[in-house]
Amino acid sequence: MADAAHPAIAFRTVEKWYGTRDQPVHALAPTDLAVAEGEFLVLLGPSGCGKTTMLRMIGGLVEPTSGEIAIEGHSLWRGGQRQARALQDLGMVFQDANLFPWMTIAENIALPLELKGVPKAQRMRRAEELMALVGIAGFGKRWPRELSGGMRQRAAIARALSYDPRILLMDEPFGALDAMTRETMNLELQRIWLETKKTVVLVTHSIAEAVFLGDRVMLLSPRPGRVDQVLKVPFARPRAPDLQSGAEFQAIVRSLRQRLTEIS
Ligand SMILES: Nc1ncnc2c1ncn2[C@@H]1O[C@H](COP(=O)(O)OP(=O)(O)OP(=O)(O)O)[C@@H](O)[C@H]1O
Ligand SMILES: [Mg+2]
Repeated sequence: MADAAHPAIAFRTVEKWYGTRDQPVHALAPTDLAVAEGEFLVLLGPSGCGKTTMLRMIGGLVEPTSGEIAIEGHSLWRGGQRQARALQDLGMVFQDANLFPWMTIAENIALPLELKGVPKAQRMRRAEELMALVGIAGFGKRWPRELSGGMRQRAAIARALSYDPRILLMDEPFGALDAMTRETMNLELQRIWLETKKTVVLVTHSIAEAVFLGDRVMLLSPRPGRVDQVLKVPFARPRAPDLQSGAEFQAIVRSLRQRLTEIS
């Protein structure tokens, strides 16, 4: 169990510069962040402001230039070395499902477990459970190409949840989907989050999606990214699609859109 005294994710003056062939790129200005256990945080901001960089730093894929990142109270990096212990808590979903075309859906979902040496029967049982959770029960023997984009994203979410990480990181997971499918996936993600009680950090370009899904929405300024504002979303759960036509919802979306236009 995590220590209740520690947030699920903590940034202490985390800064990122990328070294490039010409000029170094200042992607993220020194940033503090605390994401509570079980919270749903959404990152919103203009293109290139460092959202993916933040998410990849949380996921241990990119090392901060300075500052400290702690996952469930454990430092992610020590002396340039990534700490395996902190990584066990993380699962990631990207814009593209990134399924291996030569593996069935069940094999794709169970792959992280296979890499961990979980026996086949056990990991196939887990894959069945996860397919039911994300709403693709019965599709385990299909190939990725036989599924729709929305179903492939469901499989990607299932794969990220396979080893039951405490934290789920999602980088524009529904960006490539049509509007209808995307709305369904928002509802499904909310349901999965309510059922599994994961801590979620989601990056999106859709302001409505951010407000519909988030407990808090963090708005980042253009590069180098810094926190412009953090908005607490006041709506109870579960949230229904109707919420989006309400005056309060639309007022929040409008104010975020206005701020985003001002700073972009
Ligand atoms: N590996 C890298 N090497 C050099 N520069 C990078 C690298 N990755 C990102 N950058 C730069 O850092 C800045 C932030 O990039 P990042 O991908 O985090 O932005 P983003 O907010 O996710 O943008 P988008 O909304 O377009 O996905 C950009 O200027 C980008 O060009
Ligand atoms: Mg990005």
